[in-house]
Amino acid sequence: MALRTLDSLGSLAGKRVIVRVDFNVPLKEGVITDDGRIRAALPTLTHLLNAGARVIACSHLGRPDGAPDPKYSLAPVAQRLSELLGAPVAFAADTVGAEAQAAASGLNDGEIAVIENLRFNPGETAKDETERRAFAQQLAALGDALVSDGFGVVHRKQASVYDLAEILPSAAGFLIEKEVDVLDRLTENPARPYAVVLGGSKVSDKLGVIEHLLPRADKILVGGGMLFTFLAAQGHAVGKSLLEADQLDTVRGYIAQAAERGVELLLPTDVVVAAAFAADAAHEVAAVDAIEVTPFGADGIGLDIGPDTAARFADAIRSSTTVFWNGPMGVFEMSAFAAGTRAVAEALTEVDGLSVVGGGDSAAAVRQLGFADDQFGHISTGGGASLEFLEGKKLPGLEILGWEN
Ligand code: 3PG
Repeated sequence: MALRTLDSLGSLAGKRVIVRVDFNVPLKEGVITDDGRIRAALPTLTHLLNAGARVIACSHLGRPDGAPDPKYSLAPVAQRLSELLGAPVAFAADTVGAEAQAAASGLNDGEIAVIENLRFNPGETAKDETERRAFAQQLAALGDALVSDGFGVVHRKQASVYDLAEILPSAAGFLIEKEVDVLDRLTENPARPYAVVLGGSKVSDKLGVIEHLLPRADKILVGGGMLFTFLAAQGHAVGKSLLEADQLDTVRGYIAQAAERGVELLLPTDVVVAAAFAADAAHEVAAVDAIEVTPFGADGIGLDIGPDTAARFADAIRSSTTVFWNGPMGVFEMSAFAAGTRAVAEALTEVDGLSVVGGGDSAAAVRQLGFADDQFGHISTGGGASLEFLEGKKLPGLEILGWEN
């Protein structure tokens, strides 16, 4: 069954519409360092406001312990939202208390309020269904309908994501619709050739995705910290590089499976080896069979893919029609080890077809390296949520909106 979309809610003029967004943005000393998730919510919010709805936006931020914690206040987010909308945004300093109720009932048609971090209330994340339900009922009292648009949190069975969608008439917003449409194209009949580029530190975080996508992809490219477990599985010495020894057998299984299925598994041929995990550490490029044969010996740490690998990966990406990328190729936060991630990002911008950047670290990487969002087909706002979608898992926040995978 397909997602229930906004039109299923009928006319929204004059209605109080709760919009569950994912405003879980990175903050440094109270300043938002990446507002991508706020911008991603704008199409739905603008549409509702233009339609004359009275919008109550709600979200979580971070993982506070079910009690107010100023560190996780949504106040700076409400401020940024107001700048992006170019309109006033009221802010309620509680979730379902007197302030939130006053903010919701004080709205005129086409006006918006943000209520405080949902996770300041223990009911939001409660495992106990009765407790969760009770909080959802209190939230429901603030509105007449729910538009669920926080894609990044649809893998959580939480009050505002799941229970609230059962209590109020509910539908998916434009962001969830778009995310589901794009991610579905990565699992069902992708246009070929289809390349999956995986990086990030741990292979153990990617097992589900590898298992689900290996039979569907034409090429799998492996970089990031996880590459060293693949190299070790092939018998290479990897110095002090990240290694998950308990995953060696699993990885050998993937290498064999790729060979059996005729999936091209592209592993690095060279890496950048450093004397230490530090931005200013001495470093040099080494072939994968010579990682311990640098001046740093067995103490060397691999922190990026090497230039030959980056060029091979870029070719494989550019010659594909569908590309999904999740996880940086190296420690991109340190400029000496950012070249591999930059080369992969650059190649994705040149894909003649669909290029998708998975959320979390990869989205942060492309923005930090100075790429614009519109250089890619899609940058997912989901970290865990997009990975779980691509693992083929059932996501509670989507199922409750009618989606079946
Ligand atoms: C995310 O950042 O992946 C989402 O906002 C979900 O946050 P959570 O992992 O704290 O539930």
